[in-house]
Amino acid sequence: MKLVVVGTGYVGLVSGACLADVGHTVICVDVDALKIEKLKQGVMPIYEPGLEDVVKRGVESGRLLFTTNLAEAMEGARIAMIAVGTPSSPDGSVNMSYVESAARNIGKAMKSYTVVVDKSTVPVGTAEWVASVIHSETEQEFDVVSVPEFLREGHAVQDFMQPHRIVIGSESEKATADMMELFASFDCPKVVMDARSAELTKYAANSFLAMKIGFINEIASLCERLGANVDEVAKGIGLDPRIGAAFLKAGLGWGGSCFPKDVRALKNLGDGLGVPLPIINASLDMNTMARQRVVDRLVSLFDGSIEGKKIAVLGVAFKPNTDDTRESAAIALMQILKEKGADVHVYDPIAVFYPALHGFEVAVGESPYHIAQGAHAVILATEWSMFTDLDLKRIKQVMADDVLVDARNFFEPQRVKEVGFRYLRVGNK
Ligand code: UGA
Repeated sequence: MKLVVVGTGYVGLVSGACLADVGHTVICVDVDALKIEKLKQGVMPIYEPGLEDVVKRGVESGRLLFTTNLAEAMEGARIAMIAVGTPSSPDGSVNMSYVESAARNIGKAMKSYTVVVDKSTVPVGTAEWVASVIHSETEQEFDVVSVPEFLREGHAVQDFMQPHRIVIGSESEKATADMMELFASFDCPKVVMDARSAELTKYAANSFLAMKIGFINEIASLCERLGANVDEVAKGIGLDPRIGAAFLKAGLGWGGSCFPKDVRALKNLGDGLGVPLPIINASLDMNTMARQRVVDRLVSLFDGSIEGKKIAVLGVAFKPNTDDTRESAAIALMQILKEKGADVHVYDPIAVFYPALHGFEVAVGESPYHIAQGAHAVILATEWSMFTDLDLKRIKQVMADDVLVDARNFFEPQRVKEVGFRYLRVGNK
């Protein structure tokens, strides 16, 4: 099938490249001419393991093309996928201006029956709204369907190629048949439902996972008081298939471009409709508390003040295997440390700390050993696998004091103990 993907962000680029990989002809469109030019040369705009290879394969096969010209791209395309950004507005609502402009341009360029696929995470009711926007631009017959994306950054290609399910929000048999053909090579349940339910499924999935993390962080705070171990509790409950072991890792809480935005969007939806959503609200509160608790425990180790203490933070990215720092818990943590007067130094193997973007300054170091020099405490904030090989003895030797805060419960406790750190783990006494 021939399809056009509007937007070459995480979702658009991964979807486009993977759909070309399974045999479709895909034209990826973006308004950013420089990005398109770089993609044509095989330069990835994001760090995503495996993506470069899939894009390269697609380009070489001639089935993956890049352009800024939507009208031309739409020639003969059966499907137009909207995969543009839906950032949070300052009031927490979803900014739909990119979706609107994509829908308008698709409407203008449409020459024959087209299935317009909403792939971006969009508020409930968007499929109907997108249809009305397109209607105002064309007389052509078309359908709008919602096919939410469930890929994780850092695992995006794998998640796209081996999905657990594909949710198809479609009320048109013709469009559903096209979606079945588009996703024919993916061996997983394909769940067809109305568009509103599909749109809500995406928010519900992310909010459920965020709640699960919030829950284990709540149990972690009890463990810290009771002398229990949250990792053991997580194992103990996670083996029950009704609960499941995934997303039960206590730590600094969730960040990234999805969970914070989507949980807030659901909160706003409830507020706007007057529907109480206590669990959603508590998830947001718990996430803030998770970071605060780590800092509070550190402060109490230093007799109530970390003012002037040098704190070395390992990790800027919101999770490993990505350069994405959006709403990163590591950054939220550093901000609290700064507010408490600490001298914060940071190192990340890939992600970059931008003071202008994040609104405060920290010193950026070249290596874990570099930032640990003279530090009173080291905090592991993002669990990059490369930190497994850290020479902890060397770290301790160059430090001015001996506190290691493992905010992701990443290190082997026995190993840390042998080195002789004062060691703090989340959800451990
Ligand atoms: C998330 C979802 O997992 C995807 O299914 C979804 O498609 C995506 O959002 C999206 O809406 O686009 P992502 O934001 O890439 O994916 O990251 P996750 O791997 O889900 O991690 C989110 C946050 O939760 C990270 O900050 C991570 O450190 C934290 N986390 C995760 C925990 O603190 N504990 C855990 O057990 C798991």
